[in-house]
Amino acid sequence: MLVCRQASKSYATERGVVSAVTAIDLDVPAGRFAAIIGRSGSGKSTLMAMIGGLSRPSGGTVEVDGTDVWRLSENARAAFRNEKIGYVFQFASLLPTLRLIDNVALPAMLGRRRPVPEIHTRAAGLLERLGLGAYFDAYPSEISAGEQRRVAIARALINDPALLLADEPTSDLDEQTEIEIMDELLAVNREVGTTLVLVTHNLALADQAEQIVHIANGAIVA
Ligand SMILES: Nc1ncnc2c1ncn2[C@@H]1O[C@H](COP(=O)(O)OP(=O)(O)OP(=O)(O)O)[C@@H](O)[C@H]1O
Ligand SMILES: [Mg+2]
Repeated sequence: MLVCRQASKSYATERGVVSAVTAIDLDVPAGRFAAIIGRSGSGKSTLMAMIGGLSRPSGGTVEVDGTDVWRLSENARAAFRNEKIGYVFQFASLLPTLRLIDNVALPAMLGRRRPVPEIHTRAAGLLERLGLGAYFDAYPSEISAGEQRRVAIARALINDPALLLADEPTSDLDEQTEIEIMDELLAVNREVGTTLVLVTHNLALADQAEQIVHIANGAIVA
């Protein structure tokens, strides 16, 4: 499902070149739950952004579901991302002017592969499933941070992605909410077979993964 070969990323800064990720080789088979752990600044988000088609590697390749993500044109990559990859960021990043139902539906509306009523039914179903059935018409500012995170998960799932990338999806939330949100992500992984790559600082959580990838200074440590 996911294959990184010698994937690297460096940034040119005023202090010189910062090497955020160096030559990462990574294989995650379809359907697996993989956890990425490592200290702050070790390169986890940088790696996720390269996998998710959001940040171009300085070197190496990233293949998702048999497609070399960074060989696609920009438009083709956007379409590919929309269809195949769900991304849950550290902060919910919902659009404040859209109702929750429309936030969730948005990626499907952009992809335009299904009729609008079907998209809305699916968005409503996802919100129900994530315990937000009463809030379809609410705006992001009217719900809590934990609820916003759930909406972001629903949005990531709307196109039924083959690969779900979650970068610390429960940071800053209380323990109980973290457990509930993680249960949802794991249920999607188990029941739908969605490949799940999760960045977490929670080692107990990482222990539940079938594969643990430990990153230090931009490289995988064995
Ligand atoms: N846009 C950028 N420009 C310059 N340096 C950057 C940029 N983004 C990240 N870095 C540097 O790359 C390194 C890796 O950052 P990254 O965000 O990937 O770490 P992380 O493992 O996700 O950390 P955290 O656990 O705090 O989220 C850090 O040293 C960071 O300062
Ligand atoms: Mg990060």
